Formats: sequence, structure tokens, C-alpha cells
Amino acid sequence: MRTDPKQMAQKAAEELRSRTGVDSYDAALVMGSGWAPAADMLGAADDEFPASDLAGFLPPAVEGHSGSIRSVTRGDKRLLVFLGRTHLYEGHGTDAVAHGVRTAAAAGASTVILTNAAGSLNPEFGVGTPVLISDHLNFTMRSPLSGANFVDLSRTYSTRLRELAKEAEPSLREGVYAAMPGPHFETPAEIRMLRSLGADLVGMSTVLEAIAAREHGAEVMAISLVTNIAAGLEGANLDHQEVLAAGRSAAGDVGELLTAVVDKL
Ligand code: 6GU
Repeated sequence: MRTDPKQMAQKAAEELRSRTGVDSYDAALVMGSGWAPAADMLGAADDEFPASDLAGFLPPAVEGHSGSIRSVTRGDKRLLVFLGRTHLYEGHGTDAVAHGVRTAAAAGASTVILTNAAGSLNPEFGVGTPVLISDHLNFTMRSPLSGANFVDLSRTYSTRLRELAKEAEPSLREGVYAAMPGPHFETPAEIRMLRSLGADLVGMSTVLEAIAAREHGAEVMAISLVTNIAAGLEGANLDHQEVLAAGRSAAGDVGELLTAVVDKL
């Protein structure tokens, strides 16, 4: 039988509390590929440990394990930072994907900031560009929710938080993120399809976490860092190393953006 994901998150949040001594977090940040240097700019860790020390997170023996969790004090705010995430393509299901966000919500976080590395479908969004996610297309065709749980997704990505981000960085652009199941990249025909449906960005994460965060009533902001141009555009060849390298080189800029947003929360 499926373990109730909310109960599992409560358990993880209790373990987190006794581990860090922090009663309640203000915000959680999930750092995508290449975003670790940006995470460092949020401040030093009061505490950092493998996510798998807490209930419900994948052990490191499992490929693409869930990474580490960092507890950070920044000014008057307590931040819960996830370095690494679980992707749907790892095959552990939607509960494993949403567990970090659910744990954050159970630990009090009312703001969830999701970051990722994405391919660009919009010629105006070149490699190295951070793009605020304004909405999504969930092509994973999955949901972290089950039962008669009809969560409203008409304002998934908080207008208020998007405005804060644009105050911090007036040149910041917005776009629609299409989530694909992966782990393969798309074909050129699939990219043409996604473009015609209104996608500006494509990736393999974020949307299930955003849905879970909305279920818990948290305000969500999500930012993609464009690490490559999607298949069939500019004759792009896609390569995971290229995605990681582009992430690393833009990390300083996106780190400043992130700290500015967190300071305005
Ligand atoms: Cl082009 N596609 C997908 N699905 N994920 C990506 C990507 C492309 N670039 C970075 N992540």
C-alpha cells in the first residue's frame, strides 16, 4: 500500500525540527542542476546533511539520490535549501518527487522557490538567461495528488512573487515551462509541437513540486536557467555536460537574483 505522503512529510518535518532546532521555516528553495553556487550565495549553512537522513528521502545508493538539505538563516528568515531533487524519470513515482516540497510545507514554509535548468524554445531566451515561470504545461501527464483533490492551478505561480522578482531584476523575462517525463531530450518535431502550444521552456522537473506546493497552500515561484537551445532550433546538439556547464557559468547572476527575492519576501 502507498504510504500516505502527508504523514511521511510530517515525520520528515519532525525529524528536521529535532535535527536543526528550527521550529518553523519561512521559505524552501529547491536548487536545480547548476544552481548550487547560487544556493551558496544565500548564506552559510547552520546545518547541512544528506536528505536521506530524514524519513521518505531516497538513500544515496539509489541513482540520482535526493541530495542534501541545508538549513540557512538569512536576516530574520529561516530557509530550507534542497541541493538536488528527485525527478520523475528516476522511477520512484510522484510521491518521491513531491516529498521535499511536502516536507517543507510541513515544516512551516509558506513560500516555495523552485529552480531548474531548461531548454529554450523562445529565440529571445538565449543560453544563460534566467526566466521566471509564469505558467506550465504538464506533459508528464502525472499528478502528485490523488483522490477527489481538485486543487485550483489557475494561479500556480504567484503574481505577487513574480512582481517581487521583477522589482529585484527589472529585465527579468517570463515564460511558460513545459515539463516532459524524460529522461531523453525531445525530438525536433516534439519541440515544434511544444512551441505551437505556447511553451517557451522545456525541462523534466518543477511542475509536480509546484502542484504539491499549491495543494499545501504555499506560494510558489519558479525560475528556469536556460542552459541550452531545444532540439531542432539553431541545429542544437543536446548534451547533459553542456547543460551543467552553462548552469555553472550563469550561477553568479542567478544567485544575486535569488538573494534579492528572498530578501524581499
Ligand atoms: Cl532541451 N529538454 C528537456 N526535457 N529538459 C532539459 C532540456 C531540454 N534542457 C535542459 N533540460
